Amino acid sequence: MIRTADISDAENIAAIEQESFTHHPWTKAMFQSALADPLYTFYVYEQEGILAGFACMKDAGEEAEIEYIAVAKPFRRRGIATRLLNALISASVEKGAQAIFLEVGAQNLPAVALYEKHGFTRISVRKNYYGEGRDAFVYQRILHKITHNAHRTMHNE
Ligand SMILES: CC(C)(COP(=O)(O)OP(=O)(O)OC[C@H]1O[C@@H](n2cnc3c(N)ncnc32)[C@H](O)[C@@H]1OP(=O)(O)O)[C@@H](O)C(=O)NCCC(=O)NCCS
Repeated sequence: MIRTADISDAENIAAIEQESFTHHPWTKAMFQSALADPLYTFYVYEQEGILAGFACMKDAGEEAEIEYIAVAKPFRRRGIATRLLNALISASVEKGAQAIFLEVGAQNLPAVALYEKHGFTRISVRKNYYGEGRDAFVYQRILHKITHNAHRTMHNE
């Protein structure tokens, strides 16, 4: 089940972030502050009371930026990231965004596959973005063309 995250989720969110990434830009305190900030849209996916994944997006007017999508290891490949991503897309459409952006490690094949499967287009490469030899791909999805699909997907959640 997807629900909006609240500040009490910060600890579990930070734990999933720790096991999911080698590069950790956000501390638990940063998650707490973003959870309290209306510019961020935060969802968690719960399964039988366990927090299995989370997604976070920053609203920037006509643009939205996905900051994180992560799923705890035992829950991967069950469609949870897909549900979280569709929820973020629907929320960004509702907020009036025209496009959604994100950065992902060039070697992060699961995430690259996830975003490409969901209509994101690679628009640039940021060399050494995550450290020496670790490039980032920047992806974009234009939203105004797919508004109806995004809403239909959300209704299927
Ligand atoms: C990337 C990640 C979020 C995917 O979560 P998930 O819940 O397993 O993804 P889903 O089950 O919704 O998969 C959707 C699609 O993503 C792609 N995908 C997901 N995991 C994959 C893998 N290990 N290898 C290849 N493709 C993969 C596939 O296209 C998949 O569709 P399919 O199952 O029909 O083939 C998860 O692996 C993760 O948390 N990774 C660490 C954190 C991270 O890198 N986040 C993304 C950057 S912000």
